[in-house]
Amino acid sequence: MPAIATAPTSLRDDLIALRRHLHTIPELGFQEVKTSTALRQWFTGRGFEISDPIAKTGFTVDIEGARPGAKVGYRSDIDALPIVEATDATYKSQHSGAMHACGHDGHMAIAAGVALLARERRDDFAGTVRVLFQPAEEIAPSGAPAMIEGGALNGLEAVYAVHVDPSQPVGRFGFRNGPLTAACCPFRVVVRSERSGHSARPHEAVDTVWVATQIATELYQLVGRVTDARKAAVLTICRMWGGDALNVIPTEVEMGGTLRCVDGETLGFLREQIRRVAGALGALHKADVDVDFEGTLPAVVNTDLEVDQARGAAADLFGGEAVNDLRFASMGGEDFAFYLQKVPGCMIRVGTSGGPETRYPLHHARFDLDESALPLAAKLMTEVCIRDLNARSGA
Ligand code: NI
Repeated sequence: MPAIATAPTSLRDDLIALRRHLHTIPELGFQEVKTSTALRQWFTGRGFEISDPIAKTGFTVDIEGARPGAKVGYRSDIDALPIVEATDATYKSQHSGAMHACGHDGHMAIAAGVALLARERRDDFAGTVRVLFQPAEEIAPSGAPAMIEGGALNGLEAVYAVHVDPSQPVGRFGFRNGPLTAACCPFRVVVRSERSGHSARPHEAVDTVWVATQIATELYQLVGRVTDARKAAVLTICRMWGGDALNVIPTEVEMGGTLRCVDGETLGFLREQIRRVAGALGALHKADVDVDFEGTLPAVVNTDLEVDQARGAAADLFGGEAVNDLRFASMGGEDFAFYLQKVPGCMIRVGTSGGPETRYPLHHARFDLDESALPLAAKLMTEVCIRDLNARSGA
C-alpha cells in the first residue's frame, strides 16, 4: 500500500455522512427523486447555487475561481441498480430491490467533495469548475445524452469523472490513455415462422428453435474468425426463449445479448456480421429473421493531454506508487463516453478496497467501498480540475 496523505477530518466525515445517507435511498435511472432532493439540500445548505433540473433528476453546480477563465466539468452519476442488498451495513438500502452496488453513492460524495474543495481553493484558479450530477447511467437509453441535450456541457472545455474500483486498494488510482471501457451494443434476433408444427414431424414445419441455435453457434464464432484477433471484442448471448409445450415447434424464438468492442469500427463491422449471418441462416431455412440493436454506447476514450495531467496530479499529491497504469481497457460500458465525444477529458479509476468486505466486485449484492477513498479522490479530482483550468488560462 502506498503512503496515503491524510485528508482533513471534517471533509472526510462530511463525505462519509453524505454517502451513507445516499446509500440508504437508492433509486433506479430517471427515478432519483429522493437522491436529487438530498443532494440539492446538501448543496443549498452549504451556500452553493444549483441549476434548474436537467434530464429530469440531474443538475449542475458551478464553482467560480477568483479570476475569470475557462470552464471544466466534473461528473457524477446518481442512479442505483435493481439488486437486493446483501450487506450487513448500518447504512444498508432501505428501498427493497434497489442498491448502490456500482458505487454511484461514492461518486456523488466525491463530487460533493470536489465542490467543497474547489470553493475553498478558489484563489488558486481562474475559471469555473462545474460539478454535474447525472441520472440513469445504468439503463439504456441512459442519462448522459439527456444531460448534453439539456445544456450541461455548454461552455465546458474538458470534463472529468471517476469510477470506484474494488480491485485496487485505497490510495491507488488507475489511469489509461485512450480507451478505458468498451463500446457496447445490445442486440436482439427474432426467428419466426407461421409453419409451426408437431415435434414428431419437423420436416413439415420450419423449426425456429433449430434455426435459432444455428444462428447462435455462428454468432459465437464471429469474434476472432471474421474480426482481427488483435482487436478486443466479446459477444455474449444472455437471453434465449421460445416455445411452451414439449411437443410443439414454436412460431417464434428470440435471443439477445451484448456485443462489446474497444474500437467503434470493429463494433460497426460486427453489427453488420450479425445481420448477415442471421439473415443468411434464416433465408437458408425459410424462417423470417429480424435483427435489431437497441442503442449503442460508445467507448470511453481518454484524451492524452488530460490523462497525463491527471496522472501527474496523482503522483504529486500521493507519490508515484499511487499511480496504476492500466494495461487493458475494461469490456464494461460507461455512458461518460458520450461526454468525451463532445469535449476532451478522462475517467480515472479509484481504488476502494480496504479488506475482504470491500473487495466484492461492482454489481455484487455485497458490494461496499472503503470510505477512506472518498476524500482522497475528492482531493485528487479538485487538483485535476484546477490544473486543467490553470493550464488553459496560461497560469
Ligand atoms: Ni457504475
